[in-house]
Amino acid sequence: MKARKNILCIGAGYVGGPTMAMIASKCPECRVTVVDIDPERIAAWNSNELPIYEPGLDDLVSKCRGRNLFFSSDIADGIRNNDIIFVSVNTPTKTFGLGRGMAADLQYWEKTARQILAFSESPKIVVEKSTLPVKTALAMERILNSTKNNIRFDVVSNPEFLAEGNAIHDLESPDRVLIGSREDENGLKARQIIADIYLHWVPKERIITSGIWSSELSKLVSNAFLAQRISSINAISALCEKTEADVVEVSRAVGMDHRIGAKFLNAGVGFGGSCFRKDILNLVYLCRSQGLEEVADYWEMVVKMNDYQKERFLQTMLGAMFNTLAGKHICLWGFAFKADTGDTRESPAIYIARRLAEEKAVVHISDPQALKNARKDLADIDDIRYIEDPYRAADGCEAIAVLTDWDIYRRLDFKKIFNRMEKPAFIFDGRNILDHKLCFQIGFNVYPIGKPPLTHF
Ligand code: UDX
Ligand code: UDX
Repeated sequence: MKARKNILCIGAGYVGGPTMAMIASKCPECRVTVVDIDPERIAAWNSNELPIYEPGLDDLVSKCRGRNLFFSSDIADGIRNNDIIFVSVNTPTKTFGLGRGMAADLQYWEKTARQILAFSESPKIVVEKSTLPVKTALAMERILNSTKNNIRFDVVSNPEFLAEGNAIHDLESPDRVLIGSREDENGLKARQIIADIYLHWVPKERIITSGIWSSELSKLVSNAFLAQRISSINAISALCEKTEADVVEVSRAVGMDHRIGAKFLNAGVGFGGSCFRKDILNLVYLCRSQGLEEVADYWEMVVKMNDYQKERFLQTMLGAMFNTLAGKHICLWGFAFKADTGDTRESPAIYIARRLAEEKAVVHISDPQALKNARKDLADIDDIRYIEDPYRAADGCEAIAVLTDWDIYRRLDFKKIFNRMEKPAFIFDGRNILDHKLCFQIGFNVYPIGKPPLTHF
């Protein structure tokens, strides 16, 4: 189990970087190299300012970097000198051609397979880390075996389940590690080699194995189920607002049934992140391409409900503020798609900011980690103010909308904030994290999600 292994990861992103840092830290006898086509990203991984913000990541990287963890731009050299190749390049939703807006864009994936084929001089185990449509491994095998160079390639699926902001904990103590492979002699051998890496720190009973197609599909289905819970509770939040029920009370009562469970039942402004939307659309596309229209429609509703929730939030703001936002200053607290990350991919805040700008509001954006990304996301919109300090960001505004569940927003001096805002002052709590009664007593008109609003008129 402690044999030295040379491990490569292609793709130094949110998945590849932290995962390889954890492997390097737990397997000191392994040499782990991470490569990427983007030299700036690699330079950042080699600097004191890592390209992604993730609690605990800096320590992990500084412990291993230069010892048995290396970041490099030399992809060819990496492929030549390593036996196990993890692939975690991005697989965004296609923006062109057949399957546009739904299917996964596999161009980077295929390019990477061809690079592996071109530079390999010895047998490799190729590990799919990226989330992919079912049967992608088959395409990979076909590419890798397309020339008669007598090099053996085994393709294994080992999907990543880490959640951003909690990635280090998820990697250190995963609910499960899933390894799928072909069930012939070579496939089973490759599966065991990958399992041996994780056995350094993950209890044996948490490492589960399966056929390769089940493994690929399990990742898509896990994300679909998680997102489905959020859309379900968000749908109920709309009903709560009409019936004076309180969604927090409902989700607590529902979640205490241990068959349902309490997690992922927080209603909010909608889910974001690079995975949920992309993976569900991918699943929907797969179902449709197999002629399963009803199954496709069922899962597509999860995404449609999420879009509805974002627009519903905007309409609540508009309705509460006398049906006009033109010229009004509105402060967004939080731009990241969730707390403890600077990542803004698919963040509901992007949609809300754009809709507010369309309504001709002047948008102030505040976030402790995501302002750099926010500027890129909204580069085409003039007159957006980016202000890190939440107090200064709210100065002179008519309304605050809480869009990310950052802890700091819970502990602010709301009296001070209220005094410096235009009146009547509104708070739209898109994450239900504030003390609504307190804010109301101070003078705010408060609109939570899935609860009756607290207003002074
Ligand atoms: C990505 C996918 O989004 C996700 O679906 C998948 O499950 C894992 O990989 P993430 O790590 O968050 O997740 O993506 P990102 O941060 O964009 O990292 C991908 C990296 O791959 C980028 O640094 C990119 O430069 C690199 N890349 C891309 C390559 O090295 N080669 C390529 O051909 C394309
Ligand atoms: C998700 C999966 O959790 C992870 O297993 C997979 O590997 C990648 O995709 P991530 O996107 O990083 O991880 O974050 P997650 O914690 O799942 O949150 C996704 C979105 O759902 C966020 O916008 C979050 O705010 C929202 N959310 C989450 C809710 O609105 N309500 C909840 O109860 C939980």
